Amino acid sequence: MRSASFIVTIDGPAASGKTSVSRLLALKRGWAWISTGAFYRGLAFVASRENVSVNDEDALANLCLSSIWRVEMGDDRTKVFLRSEDVTDEIYAEDIGLAASLVSRYPKVRANLLGAQRACADSLDALVAEGRDCGTIVFPDANVKFYLTAGTLDRAARRARQQGGNVEEMRQAQVQRDYQDSSRQTAPMQIPTQAHIIDTTALTLDQVVEQVDAVIGKELAQQSLSHL
Ligand code: DC
Repeated sequence: MRSASFIVTIDGPAASGKTSVSRLLALKRGWAWISTGAFYRGLAFVASRENVSVNDEDALANLCLSSIWRVEMGDDRTKVFLRSEDVTDEIYAEDIGLAASLVSRYPKVRANLLGAQRACADSLDALVAEGRDCGTIVFPDANVKFYLTAGTLDRAARRARQQGGNVEEMRQAQVQRDYQDSSRQTAPMQIPTQAHIIDTTALTLDQVVEQVDAVIGKELAQQSLSHL
């Protein structure tokens, strides 16, 4: 097995547009993509189903390695299966996002999920990986790194439009989640060195994808990889 010859990472806070941009970029390029948040969301969901406390680091770390659940890459969404049940719809609920943020603060959990995240790049020509630590920890040698950001109100309004719900409640939940994700000791959310920072507040999804794609196009040409 070899790792993908071209890896793009897209990190950023909750609802900054990482998932939509990754999906569209991957579609445009015909590349695979992985939302690494699905690993933490999947773990949080499975923990609640299996009565494992979000405060029990060792039990959560063991659950990471359990064969009762798995994460699968998909064109439209990164999927999670618990035994044979597709629980993808459930893991993308906002309360599971908050629980995912809680389980993701444990070093043993992060260590035990890292192998499966990196394995997503095996045997592929190219991969787009998005999350909080993709450019810093999961794929520190990625070819191109991006960090997406947007105003808190804008991000809350976006998520409320997508999922329904109250913008102010959404904003408060996101502020709490961003604080948890950026203040934790292990692999905190941060801007990777060499990352291209894009503020998506005033941009449409297509405009962000265009900007990201233009940077990638240049990098591919420089590395004589335009055939990918
Ligand atoms: O991107 P998301 O909303 O699906 O992520 C859910 C939570 O998972 C996020 O609040 C923190 C955690 N996470 C992480 O710690 N590291 C990642 N690479 C991706 C997500």
